[in-house]
Parts: sequence; C-alpha cells; structure tokens
Amino acid sequence: MSTSFPAGFFDRVDPSPDAHFYAAPRLVTHIDDRAVDGVGALYEELAVDGDVLDLMSSWVSHLRAKPRSLTVLGMNTVELEANPLADARVVHDLNAAPVLPFPDKAFDAVLNCVSVDYLVHPVEVLAEVARVLRPGGLSVCSFSNRCFPSKAVQGWLSVPERDRPRVVAEYHRLAGGFDETVVEQRLVATWRHDPLWAVWARRQV
Ligand SMILES: C[S@@+](CC[C@H](N)C(=O)[O-])C[C@H]1O[C@@H](n2cnc3c(N)ncnc32)[C@H](O)[C@@H]1O
Repeated sequence: MSTSFPAGFFDRVDPSPDAHFYAAPRLVTHIDDRAVDGVGALYEELAVDGDVLDLMSSWVSHLRAKPRSLTVLGMNTVELEANPLADARVVHDLNAAPVLPFPDKAFDAVLNCVSVDYLVHPVEVLAEVARVLRPGGLSVCSFSNRCFPSKAVQGWLSVPERDRPRVVAEYHRLAGGFDETVVEQRLVATWRHDPLWAVWARRQV
C-alpha cells in the first residue's frame, strides 16, 4: 500500500531493528512545554475520551483528563510503565509487524504524538487504526519539527515542514475507512518555541 510514494521514501539511515534504538528508556518530553500544552488542548477540543489507544507512546500521553480507559503501545517497557494514565501497556514494534494486536472496533480514539515520522508502513498501520476504531472514532496524529533523524523515514526528512501534514493526510486517505482528514497548524514556531501540526480524521460510520 505504501508503494505509491517515491522509491526510497520509507528508507531510513538506521534500518536496524527498532528494539535496539529504543532499548534505553527516555523519560523526557520530545517537544517543548508550549507544544505539550498544545497537544493537550487539541485532545480536549476534540473531546478525546472513552477507550483510547495511544500509539508509539511513552511515559506521557498528553491527555489532560483520564479517559475511561487508556491503552499505550510503544517500544520501551520502562517508559510505558511510567505512564500514569495507562490501564494497559503493550510493547510492540509497528515497523516489524504493522498490525495492531486488538480486536475490531475496540477504541473511540487512536492517538499518535510526534512519532508518525518513524513508521515505515504508515498506510498499513493506519488501515489497522481504522479497523480498531469504532464508527465515528478519531485518529489523531500530531507532530512538531524535531525527530531522531536516523530513525525517521527519508521521505519525511526530505519534505518541507509545511507539507508534512499533507503526507499524513495522504497516509489516512490511502489507508481507507476514514472521513475527510482535517489538517491544522496549531502552533507557529517562534525563536524559542516548537511548532505543532495536527491531522485528524473520523472512522467512517
Ligand atoms: C519521539 S518518541 C514520542 C513518545 C510519545 N508519543 C510522546 O509524545 O512523547 C517516539 C516513540 O515512538 C515509539 N516507537 C518508535 N518506533 C516504534 C515502532 N517501530 N513501534 C512502536 N513504537 C515505536 C518509541 O517507543 C518512542 O517512545
């Protein structure tokens, strides 16, 4: 499915198994405080609640209030264990196996914060997101302009920042199962603050 992108788009400088790179916990925030607050505001505005899956998660999910249930999926057990809102924790490499180990229609919202750039099979993963979302459920991807460059896909690094939201919208379109995607720049970069973009779409009813 990802083959409609140019050759090499999903290559990475470091193609070694992600388990190596993410073996050591990073109990940090990957965006500045204003952007963290911006992600929380976005989730509040979109009324993210119910049964929520935070994909490519760590010790913080940026939700301002605890949803009915929060499942976090990522690469590092220590990070996931430190997530204070999580009810369930799953260590799973989405690049090695772009499937979600959950039943159909299990979630009301699936989140992905500052991590979509690391997916080598994003269309397959988003097709899985559509599968596990309930009708009308939300897929929300947010991102800034920082990353681990050796682990981000080359296409992401080569596309200008302003065009990256359109890439994520295209991932959703190709995955299928979603209504029209909304793309917004939520925060503009300043000399001391990170930018923030968000792309979201509802599972077709
Ligand atoms: C930049 S951090 C972002 C963490 C968190 N979402 C946040 O907002 O702070 C990237 C996260 O993506 C996860 N990740 C990277 N590659 C992954 C993969 N192949 N499968 C699943 N999760 C992955 C890592 O565990 C890491 O915590």
